[in-house]
Amino acid sequence: MENLVTADLARSAKGAVPSPDFWRGKRVFLTGHTGFKGCWLSLWLTTLGARVCGYSLAPSSDPCMFEVLGLAQSCESKIGDIRDKENLQEELSEFEPEIVFHLAAQPLVRQSYITPLETFSTNVMGTANLLDACRDLTALRAIVCVTTDKVYENREWLWAYRETEALGGHDPYSASKACAEFVASAYRNSFFSNDSQISVATARAGNIVGGGDWADDRLLPDCIRAITSAQELEIRHPGAIRPWQHALEPLCGYLLLAENLFSGNKDYATAFNFGPSNERLISVKSIVEMVADCWDGALSFRLHEADAARHEANILALDSTKSRQLLNWQPKLSAMKAVQMSIDWYKAFYDSGSKTLMIDLTENQIADYSRKLCGPTMPDGKD
Ligand SMILES: NC(=O)c1ccc[n+]([C@@H]2O[C@H](COP(=O)([O-])OP(=O)(O)OC[C@H]3O[C@@H](n4cnc5c(N)ncnc54)[C@H](O)[C@@H]3O)[C@@H](O)[C@H]2O)c1
Repeated sequence: MENLVTADLARSAKGAVPSPDFWRGKRVFLTGHTGFKGCWLSLWLTTLGARVCGYSLAPSSDPCMFEVLGLAQSCESKIGDIRDKENLQEELSEFEPEIVFHLAAQPLVRQSYITPLETFSTNVMGTANLLDACRDLTALRAIVCVTTDKVYENREWLWAYRETEALGGHDPYSASKACAEFVASAYRNSFFSNDSQISVATARAGNIVGGGDWADDRLLPDCIRAITSAQELEIRHPGAIRPWQHALEPLCGYLLLAENLFSGNKDYATAFNFGPSNERLISVKSIVEMVADCWDGALSFRLHEADAARHEANILALDSTKSRQLLNWQPKLSAMKAVQMSIDWYKAFYDSGSKTLMIDLTENQIADYSRKLCGPTMPDGKD
């Protein structure tokens, strides 16, 4: 491990960028490709030259990013349930992936109170099905399972959580993702250990913003719905502090993690946090104010006292030292820049809606972000 750290310190202090030379022609299987982060990742992989096969349920929001970006045309798209092991296994065997990203999940805390069993079956058994179906794939080298910052037993303290800290989960969503971590760990120890050519890592990231998210009960989509329907938005938990970041930040981390896993070095087959630096932790209320500023004050909102029946953590911070040191991953965008990029995306969509324009804009945001990784680091608020 020490050698890895030394080697990484010798690399650029500006942060690594996913390598087109690595990704060109790679066969990548991606679960959750019809969802918000899956769409960004599919497009990024495609622009890097990878051959992508996605496996998910049909898109559920209207509008949805999958349609906006025309992803059914640019990647192989399989509509299927992650809980249908037989179908999943067939699609994996037919595609023969070299790399798998697992993003399919029921990802919403509030929904998990309404459908707890479905949340557990999708997030826990879905992960077990996927890892089990991967066991006999001969071309496969790397699996990245995406969980969340909410896997940690939240102690409501000021310190950021490290990967070694206790897992927990107060609500069904958080607990299901902590269980997914245990499933990944058990499969890694039992079937993908040192004598296997397949390496498995988990990736834990925080609250993501970015264009193209229309999920229920998420802050940015709620803001966008309020703006576009000229309704007043009620803000729950205005003081809650979260590790907000643009989708491109953790996705860059997942890509770098897969590249390193692919090398076969089992030191990378563990858990990795991808969060903003501590000074970039921002309250819910500040994010809402940023959205209002970026959309020329068009958002009207009022604050609502916390819904006492439903527990939500007040402070949640991730320590990403390991990702910085071992992957040379660096968060680059301030919260303000992340919100600005998101609002630019939604404004373009609601102003024009043209598929060509939205594909160009999304590709440009990815290209600008990748260039930024190669350029100088800017202080908060100035990038
Ligand atoms: N967006 C965030 O703020 C955030 C934060 C932390 C972690 N995550 C994690 O990132 C991943 C992607 O999240 P997202 O924001 O893109 O969510 P999303 O709801 O936009 O997408 C979820 C995807 O999973 C698929 N899916 C759901 N149930 C399925 C099933 N039974 N079978 C097959 N596919 C199924 C959906 O079709 C969709 O493609 C999830 O694992 C989520 O837990 C997201």
